[in-house]
Amino acid sequence: MRLAGKKIVLGLTGGIACYKVAELTRGLTKAGASVQVVMTPSAMQFITPVTMQALSGNTVYTDQWDARIHNNMPHIDLTRDADAIVIAPCSTDFIAKLAHGACDDLLSTLCMARPHHVPLLIAPAMNVEMWLNPATQRNVAQVKADGIQVLGPAAGEQACGEVGMGRMLEADQLLTEIIASFQAKTLTGKSVLITAGPTFEPIDPVRGLTNLSSGKMGYAIAQAAWEAGADVTLISGPTALDTPYGVRRITIQTAQQMHDSVMAELAARHQSVFVAVAAVADWRVANASPQKIKKTSDNDTPQLQFAQNPDILASVAALTNAPFCVGFAAESENLLEYGTAKRAKKNVPLLVGNIGHHTFGKDENELILFDAKGHTTLPRADKQTLAHRLIQEISRRLSK
Ligand code: C5P
Repeated sequence: MRLAGKKIVLGLTGGIACYKVAELTRGLTKAGASVQVVMTPSAMQFITPVTMQALSGNTVYTDQWDARIHNNMPHIDLTRDADAIVIAPCSTDFIAKLAHGACDDLLSTLCMARPHHVPLLIAPAMNVEMWLNPATQRNVAQVKADGIQVLGPAAGEQACGEVGMGRMLEADQLLTEIIASFQAKTLTGKSVLITAGPTFEPIDPVRGLTNLSSGKMGYAIAQAAWEAGADVTLISGPTALDTPYGVRRITIQTAQQMHDSVMAELAARHQSVFVAVAAVADWRVANASPQKIKKTSDNDTPQLQFAQNPDILASVAALTNAPFCVGFAAESENLLEYGTAKRAKKNVPLLVGNIGHHTFGKDENELILFDAKGHTTLPRADKQTLAHRLIQEISRRLSK
């Protein structure tokens, strides 16, 4: 319930992308927000107020002369207790109105009359040529300069059959952007590098050694870091998870590839924080076969030899100008003792301990943070909540 207690005024203007906003409304209400829908006459050509009322659970307003509001001023009353106004889809025409302060219907008048502390977020949706038109680009620059947050648009196939910039973001992406808009931007201007997931060490072309890490914790931390304003790169082993919105993901297979990829990213640009969440295999098969190993007789077993993988976290922590390094420790017992010892061994300022079989593949976890002063517990919660707490802890330490 990341939007619990928030009131969102959701404005729809004319565009095919109105159909995506039905889904967005569900997402907003599921996340705990109350949603007040306002529609322009053009929006009603694409989706009906009936649908939007049913999904939001609130009366939909479409007319600035609507007498159902007690003082007959919906353009004032609807935003006075709002936490944000979101216009999705936001048409070319509506951006022009916002840029010029025009107000000739309820939604544009409501935007002009919004209290200065209520953020306005717009999700443009239009044909590529309309988006690229210099008039639109001028208007977009103007609304940005006026403090309006512009979400997207994305590039891709458009309803008109043309291809390019102007597609509205998907409902889940908009939801992530709206949730992020309420987060403290404690990592703005910072780059964060994260490893996540398991590694896969080949035995032959079709077999390998891996572990039960799902990647969920690392991906949640990547999302939380992006929501805090960071530029995030996620170097991930094979997982079934979608790339977190706003995050750059590099997918690798082996520990050696993860090591090389981390070092290349650190060489390419300064990283403020490195969070090693990946469950990296300690050993790789030194004599991996280029062909599939065949079973030749019933008693025959392959003779695998092992070589140690590089310790990525320890190598990064040992660099001169190392980023602020955060390690993870998955133990099966004696977490306090092993966590304290591991932080010292890896030489990192912060180590996050958890019990492996309580976290691998699960949606919830409990974390213990070890630093030079001792340890503190982040009590059991879903991994998103824990990721946000951890990012707060990292931000606090960075700002010291
Ligand atoms: O030594 P151990 O594997 O328990 O250490 C766990 C921490 O070290 C995690 O942060 C993990 O991502 C990192 N690690 C690493 N490279 C390795 C092994 C572990 O970065 N080869």
